Amino acid sequence: MQLDSDSNRLPVALVSGASSGIGQATARRLAQAGFAVALVARNRERLAGLQAELPTATSLTIAQDLTDFAALGALVEAVEAKLGPIAVLVNNAGMAYTGPLETMPVADWEQVLKLNLTAPFALTRAVLPTMRQRRTGTIINMVSIAGKQTFADWGAYCASKFGLLAFSRTLAQEVRQDGIRVTALCPGAVDTALWDSEAVTADFDRQAMLAAETVADLVLYAASLPERAVLEEVVLMPSGGVL
Ligand SMILES: NC(=O)c1ccc[n+]([C@@H]2O[C@H](COP(=O)([O-])OP(=O)(O)OC[C@H]3O[C@@H](n4cnc5c(N)ncnc54)[C@H](OP(=O)(O)O)[C@@H]3O)[C@@H](O)[C@H]2O)c1
Repeated sequence: MQLDSDSNRLPVALVSGASSGIGQATARRLAQAGFAVALVARNRERLAGLQAELPTATSLTIAQDLTDFAALGALVEAVEAKLGPIAVLVNNAGMAYTGPLETMPVADWEQVLKLNLTAPFALTRAVLPTMRQRRTGTIINMVSIAGKQTFADWGAYCASKFGLLAFSRTLAQEVRQDGIRVTALCPGAVDTALWDSEAVTADFDRQAMLAAETVADLVLYAASLPERAVLEEVVLMPSGGVL
């Protein structure tokens, strides 16, 4: 990876949801490829465990609930103060509650929308001024096949991911003239802790799912493309027919 031409430091990637699953694999992959990485999630111990694998000078962990939107400006400032301007934002943190819409508590619906849709919006707003000023940057939104297709009992999740895809497409139209790229990744089922959550009831073959590392490779690919190219939207499915 080349040094950032303005700051003469490693290019910086902020990965949300870096304490587990796709986010953890992505942070690892980006660090191996020569990015300085900011790791954001709530669980301080798991973030520290990942950071222990990485060089201290070019990594930073911030334990933060991303649904505390008022805190996200200061979070971005802290990352830029230690590591430099953010070149890549990976809006990855996400969650699901399954169950029929008719009985889903409003609080559960709201929590999914807040984390999966409003947090990427708020975090994007916080990184955009610097990206605009530098006329470069890549924003990668972890959507899902559930952003393109609906599934019974996944109503809040699908609504959040359809919304995230609409957010992604609109953002791309608004910022491309400023040199900022927006990528929407839509993986099918990935074998992560998301499926172990008490809030999720599903019976899929975990062995047949994608590996988090495969999605991480795609994030790295999108982030490393030459500046004049953008991976706008990708569906990545397990090849064996599982969702
Ligand atoms: N697994 C799949 O089949 C699949 C398929 C397509 C798309 N995706 C998407 O991929 C993304 C990552 O999911 P995953 O499968 O890797 O799940 P995961 O292993 O459960 O990871 C979710 C991450 O989000 C973080 N997070 C949850 N609530 C948070 C909050 N309030 N504030 C900050 N961070 C929070 C978690 O960290 P803390 O608990 O430490 O906060 C964790 O790091 C999600 O957007 C998901 O919708 C997943």
